[in-house]
Amino acid sequence: MYEDVLNLFIRRRSIRSYLDKPVEEEKIDTILEAAFAAPSACNNQPWEMVVVTEKSIMDEIRAEFGFANYNAPCAVVVCANTHLCRNVDEMYIFDCSAAMQNILLCATALDLGSLWVGVYGDQNKRKISRIVGLPEYVVPCGIAYVGYANEEKGPRKQFNEKRVYYQVYDINRKHKARPKNMKQLC
Ligand SMILES: Cc1cc2nc3c(=O)[nH]c(=O)nc-3n(C[C@H](O)[C@H](O)[C@H](O)COP(=O)(O)O)c2cc1C
Repeated sequence: MYEDVLNLFIRRRSIRSYLDKPVEEEKIDTILEAAFAAPSACNNQPWEMVVVTEKSIMDEIRAEFGFANYNAPCAVVVCANTHLCRNVDEMYIFDCSAAMQNILLCATALDLGSLWVGVYGDQNKRKISRIVGLPEYVVPCGIAYVGYANEEKGPRKQFNEKRVYYQVYDINRKHKARPKNMKQLC
């Protein structure tokens, strides 16, 4: 059982090539249920999700986000409704990130590929808000691409004991900041 859980986390990879096959509605519903199960500060649950499956809208997202120009058939735009952020409004990014990770892991469990597309900076936020019609008080936090993978990626085996400290941090520990074989994407 423990091994199954760990395997799920390790199997999740960023998929950037998808089959031309829609994601079943039941699978999307399961993914949404997983997203809404995330923890949130003060239990605000500030998230709202926009599910996009229409090709014309997906094409628009791809055209506007060069760093996300991949052929996924479905996207979930993870948003925070700031009207729902009582007391701790700056926490919504953490809440929505937890929801995002639940989406990615649930997709993996359902044998779907997925990709976290970052929505950072005012310009990108404005772009996706325009495309999916968000009002000003609903903030886009990220986009999850979901679909059947058209590429195979090995499990993520990147545990690094050199980055782990017990009880207190050791500033004298000598180690390279990054493993030699680590691929940097940007
Ligand atoms: C906050 C965040 C934003 C990301 N944005 C993008 C993105 O816009 N486009 C993309 O292709 N990958 C994006 N990624 C995926 C990372 O590139 C990927 O997780 C990383 O390279 C590790 O690969 P893996 O997910 O297969 O383990 C993002 C990941 C995170 C956590």
